[in-house]
Amino acid sequence: MVATQADGPNPVAAPFFRYQAQRLYVEDVSLQSIAESYGTPVYVYSKASLAHAWQRYQDAMQSHNVMVCYGMKANSNLAVLQLFAQWGSGFDIVSGGELQRALQAGADARKIIFSGVGKQAWEIEAALKAGIKCFNVESIPELEFINAVAQKMALQAPISLRINPDVDAQTHPYISTGLKGNKFGIAMDQALAAYEQAQRLEHLQIIGVDCHIGSQITEIAPYLDALAHLIELVQQLRARGIALQHLDLGGGLGIRYRDEQAPAPKALADQVFAKLQAADLGHLQVVFEPGRSLVGNAGVLLTQVLFLKHTADGNFAIVDAAMNDLLRPTLYQAYHGILPVTQSTATARPYDVVGPVCESGDWFAKKRPLALQDHDLLAIESCGAYGFVMSSQYNSRPRPPEVLVDGAHCHLIRRRETLEDICAAEQGLNV
Ligand code: LLP
Repeated sequence: MVATQADGPNPVAAPFFRYQAQRLYVEDVSLQSIAESYGTPVYVYSKASLAHAWQRYQDAMQSHNVMVCYGMKANSNLAVLQLFAQWGSGFDIVSGGELQRALQAGADARKIIFSGVGKQAWEIEAALKAGIKCFNVESIPELEFINAVAQKMALQAPISLRINPDVDAQTHPYISTGLKGNKFGIAMDQALAAYEQAQRLEHLQIIGVDCHIGSQITEIAPYLDALAHLIELVQQLRARGIALQHLDLGGGLGIRYRDEQAPAPKALADQVFAKLQAADLGHLQVVFEPGRSLVGNAGVLLTQVLFLKHTADGNFAIVDAAMNDLLRPTLYQAYHGILPVTQSTATARPYDVVGPVCESGDWFAKKRPLALQDHDLLAIESCGAYGFVMSSQYNSRPRPPEVLVDGAHCHLIRRRETLEDICAAEQGLNV
């Protein structure tokens, strides 16, 4: 049998993205009509899909003392943040810019956690002023620095130490963060001394312990490995009179890009609390900092074929999106599904789907079976996380707009950049 696109895979984010009469829809809006209204390339998000992902975390929160702080680096569009704030989410931030965005979107500062290895004085000040829940501290010098900033402001900074539990999250090396060789966290064998140091610093208030072992994790086991280390530490701290309020297991739950099966947040929480209860630590609040699993499959990058190029060595589909719009394929060799916006019964051939940027690394897919014609529209799947936020203006290309679909309605939540935007912050020489 000849393979055609109609035989191709279903959208990974079904039912929020689905075919109806051979046309691809996001909720009740056809992607074709979005391309006509907003042009291409364009990021398109489904509100119902975001709500569904949030609901899966709520299932965990309903059964256990869990707090979810959305890892907003995955997608920090103000409208997306507003939704999560309305639904009651907290936020995991990593910069003063993210703090500003979260507050602007209506976040409750008491549910904000500040992570990251290199916080600067102005960022710490702003977070203290806002009254955030906790700083996740990654080194002893940082501990002393936060103490000094808090002292100047005559405040106490709530802190948690990020421990590096040295476990293998079995994921891509660039997004694996809990191994000894990584720059993240405080090594297990220095953790007790670091807590004792924190206790001596008067402008710090110890409230928790934290780790984050990596991203796109598809098994529960690495979390339980990390948890075992944290439990041991919490018990040693308790023996020294240091009582904690929460244990933060970071983010990292994976999503389906192709055929992965990641555990549900509730299944993870069930196993985590079973271990905590067995260790007589069932009273601790557990914090999760999910990014990808809340937004990843809620978005696609819609792009149009500019030219088809058939050479002796292969077939290229040159599209109007490029590596500056979506960096993941070239940076991590990441797989993203590519769906035709209109299904065809023509014979598929293997295409390299590439962008117009002057680098061979500018590709979205290699040897992907597609039946294409000039000007066809394609939806690159699973682009809701680490898509737009990692985009740039490389090659002086204006960044694409972002559209949020809610049922039959489209909301433009970021306009397309203009050529003026590209140079807006620059100044010519005055000579
Ligand atoms: N918490 C901390 C401290 C983090 O560093 C991260 C992500 C998260 C939470 C959220 O992790 P998630 O649930 O999204 O896995 N750009 C890469 C991913 C980098 C993740 C960095 N840290 C990618 O496109 O795959």
